[in-house]
Parts: sequence; structure tokens; C-alpha cells
Amino acid sequence: MKVFKKIAIVGSTGLVGRTVLKVLEEKSFPNCIYTLFSSKKSAGKKIEFLGKNYIICELKENSFDSGFDYAIFCAGGNISKKFIPIAVEKGCTVIDNSSIYRMDENVPLVVPEVNSEDIFTNNGIISNPNCSTIQAVLPLKPIYDNFGIKRIIYSSYQAVSGAGRHGIEDLENGPANIPLKKFPYPIYNNCIPQIDDFTEDGYTKEEHKMINETKKILHDNNIAITATTVRVPVKNCHSECINVELKKDFDIYDIKILLQNFPGIIVIDDIEKQRYPIATKADGYDEVFVGRIRRDYSIEYGLNLWVVADNLRKGAATNAIQILEKLLRYK
Ligand SMILES: NC(=O)c1ccc[n+]([C@@H]2O[C@H](COP(=O)([O-])OP(=O)(O)OC[C@H]3O[C@@H](n4cnc5c(N)ncnc54)[C@H](OP(=O)(O)O)[C@@H]3O)[C@@H](O)[C@H]2O)c1
Repeated sequence: MKVFKKIAIVGSTGLVGRTVLKVLEEKSFPNCIYTLFSSKKSAGKKIEFLGKNYIICELKENSFDSGFDYAIFCAGGNISKKFIPIAVEKGCTVIDNSSIYRMDENVPLVVPEVNSEDIFTNNGIISNPNCSTIQAVLPLKPIYDNFGIKRIIYSSYQAVSGAGRHGIEDLENGPANIPLKKFPYPIYNNCIPQIDDFTEDGYTKEEHKMINETKKILHDNNIAITATTVRVPVKNCHSECINVELKKDFDIYDIKILLQNFPGIIVIDDIEKQRYPIATKADGYDEVFVGRIRRDYSIEYGLNLWVVADNLRKGAATNAIQILEKLLRYK
């Protein structure tokens, strides 16, 4: 029996890839051997990881020939589309950060605190949900289980790191008026009500991701959901206002207790002391922060939540590594 597990990190030089390496260092899984892949541009460069200098390898069609047990892909949709089938064919189980396979009915879409049982239905690919979906479904899950959910209105305030390295560069280069690399308008001093491309129905792909992925993770296609996703000039951590219509009456105190007791959530909600979650305080944490928990008096069973999380950690790297951890333990 093989003692060591071979793990590939694809896109190891990107924002998510580097966060994956950071979280892996913190977790320090025993008996794992890592290989770091990126594009030709990065091949041969060194990254310090687990106290050693790792040389970045160029991702090629034969990269998986040497027999990897697991791979975490964080190199974008086109790379996932081309290379994941090759990796799976060679016997590798892949956790994918792109949106390519998320809505494929043969691919589980997993947030471990919410639907970890789905991990083991995989056929070689497990999708990591969109960053803004991950942080939303954590607080929604205990509310769904205890009161049912009829309708959700998402309004997101998403950090530039969610758009990768070029997103951060556009914000940081803003005051100098340097030509934009990522966004259609300057993000410096602006809010841009467009994340990803528009679709024919007037919504953006990011809004569709929040709507469709929430239904898939909660296994309920009957929830009515709408979303408006907005890019804001914040370096890291997404914030969301989530308006929820429950199916039955609730006590706000019970909601707070349910959220406090749910794994992966920290409630910060003390308006007398002006305490609520904010992006700069969530930066670097794995937890999802929830506050401003209050009734929506405009409908019968309405609830408002303010939800903030580190999109690079819980929204991407940490969630993927929690899935990997379950796979490693199971095997
Ligand atoms: N940023 C977030 O908050 C977030 C959250 C959830 C999911 N995601 C998803 O995670 C993925 C990565 O996002 P990111 O923000 O980390 O992007 P990023 O900072 O732009 O990094 C992109 C990575 O992909 C690599 N890459 C590009 N072309 C490649 C190729 N031909 N072969 C191998 N590697 C290649 C790059 O390598 P080089 O350095 O060599 O160019 C780099 O490591 C995307 O699918 C994104 O949608 C991102």
C-alpha cells in the first residue's frame, strides 16, 4: 500500500494558489508530497513552501502521467476544462475552484459545514462553489433546516481580490490612472454593478452562480432567489446583505443562537457598541462573520443578515482544503 499521497496544486502562483499553499502549511498534513504547477511563464521560478524552495513546473498534458492522488485546480476555467479530464483519466481526484463543473449533475458542489456528505458521491471531480456563495450558505443552512426558506435576496459588495491578481492591481494603480487590466471601469473610488459577463436575461454570470449554486448546495430548487453582485474598492473579503423570507415564524434570539452554534460561523452583533462584521477584520480568517441580524418588518417572516468572509480563504482555499482533508481521512 502506498503510504504517501501525491498532491498537485495547479495555479500555485495565483492569489488562490498562494493562499492554498498558506493554508496547507498551517494544516501540515502528514505523508503528503506536493508538486506545484503554473503556466510556462512561471516555470522554473521558486516558491518557499513548507520550509523548502519548490520549483514551479509548467502544466502540460503529460503532467499527470506520474500518478497524482489529488489535485487542487486554481488556474481558471479554461485550464480546468482542458486539464481536469486528463487528470481524472489518470486516476487523480480533483477539487476545482473554477465554475466550469459546478452545475454538472455528476459533480458534487460542496461546502463541508453544509453538505460534506456530497463529497463521496464524486466521480473524480468535486467543485468548490463561488466565493460569494460559500459565505452565504453557511448562515442559511441552520435557518433552512429549522424554519425553511421561501425566498432569498442577495446584494453583494465584493472585494477586488475576487478578480485575481489583476483585480488588486487595478485598485492599487487607481490613483496613478494606469490603464485597467481587469475591470470595465476604474474600481478606485467606484462601485461597479457588474461581476463577470452579462447574460441574455440582464443578470451577470456571478449573479446566476449565487442563485443556482445556493439551490444545488441546499438541495432545493424551490427557493426563490435573486441577486445583485457589486465590485467595491476593498482589497480583500466579500461583504453581503442577505434578505431571507422564512417559511414560518421565528424568534430573533433563536436565530442568533443557531448561527452562533453553527460550525465555521462567528456572530459579531452588538449594535450598542457598534460591533458588526467588517472586511478588514475578517481578512486572514477562515470563519464566516455574521451580524446586523434583525427582522425585516416589511414582510411576515423576513430576516436580514450582514455576512463577511475572506474570499481567498473560506471562499476558495480553505474550503478546498477542508474537502481535501475529508478525502484524506476517508481514504
Ligand atoms: N480570487 C478569488 O477570490 C477566487 C475565489 C473563488 C474561486 N476563484 C477561482 O480560482 C481560480 C484562480 O483565481 P485567482 O484569483 O487565484 O487568479 P489569479 O490570481 O489570476 O491566478 C491565476 C493562476 O492561474 C495560473 N495559470 C494561468 N494560465 C495557466 C496555464 N496555462 N497553465 C497553468 N496555470 C496557469 C497562473 O499562473 P502564472 O502565474 O504562471 O500566470 C496563476 O497561478 C479561478 O478559476 C477563479 O475563478 C477565485
